[in-house]
Amino acid sequence: MRLAPFAESATIQLRRNWKRHALFTDWLRDDLADALWQEPERLLAGATVLQHRGVRRTVRINWAGSPFVLKHFVEPTWRHGLKQLVMRSRARKTWNIMHLLADSGVLTPRPVACVENTRGPFQLDSYLLYPYVPGETIRQHLSAHPDPLLTATALQRQLVALWDRLKALQVSLADANPGNFIVSSDHQLWVIDLDKARKHRSALWGEKRRRSTWQRLTTKLAQAAQTGVTLPSHTRLRHAA
Ligand SMILES: Nc1ncnc2c1ncn2[C@@H]1O[C@H](COP(=O)(O)OP(=O)(O)O)[C@@H](O)[C@H]1O
Ligand SMILES: [Mg+2]
Repeated sequence: MRLAPFAESATIQLRRNWKRHALFTDWLRDDLADALWQEPERLLAGATVLQHRGVRRTVRINWAGSPFVLKHFVEPTWRHGLKQLVMRSRARKTWNIMHLLADSGVLTPRPVACVENTRGPFQLDSYLLYPYVPGETIRQHLSAHPDPLLTATALQRQLVALWDRLKALQVSLADANPGNFIVSSDHQLWVIDLDKARKHRSALWGEKRRRSTWQRLTTKLAQAAQTGVTLPSHTRLRHAA
């Protein structure tokens, strides 16, 4: 095992053998790192399933009193595995973007482990571990709150600030599912699912994706509020003016 600096914020341990490659941040407990390294599929099997969709399974695990999310990405076909010869695994791409956002002050859980199963040059399935954020999804929060107008206004402010930050980083989110945003118990808006997020070289392409995601997300949220509260259209975003 060797130590390598990563981003500005963490020291990363790298482990590698003939069938597995792993990154662990130095604040991950050794026993959890060992469990992930030895038998990640066992951790998955004993956990509470949050979501299971085709190639992705998302579960919650509790370890020494701390809640984590473990996400398992499976390459759907050998062709996808071949593609990973030149590209990073899905877990590793998501790791990179979550660290980038967390380092830049965006409220997103900072991944603590990434495990990639490999055979020679091929990437097989991969795992990502990050903290669980206690709270409600933005949809649950909006539909359950007794004062939807106030709630929507507070969320709107945080969403606009998030989109401004994404623009500054040239990052776009493509997944407009309200389940990807958690309102924590202290009313902070967290973005928790970055699987489809991209860092763009072209500012224009990023803007196009950000606008379209914004429009789909705010339409869904307005429906969730169910009170005629209208969240702003993308044209009213500060950065889009
Ligand atoms: N870090 C987290 N903190 C709290 N809840 C989470 C977290 N990650 C996932 N969840 C819950 O699990 C659900 C599915 O997770 P998500 O990452 O969106 O999976 P998928 O990639 O399948 O869309 C979310 O809608 C949320 O309710
Ligand atoms: Mg999701």
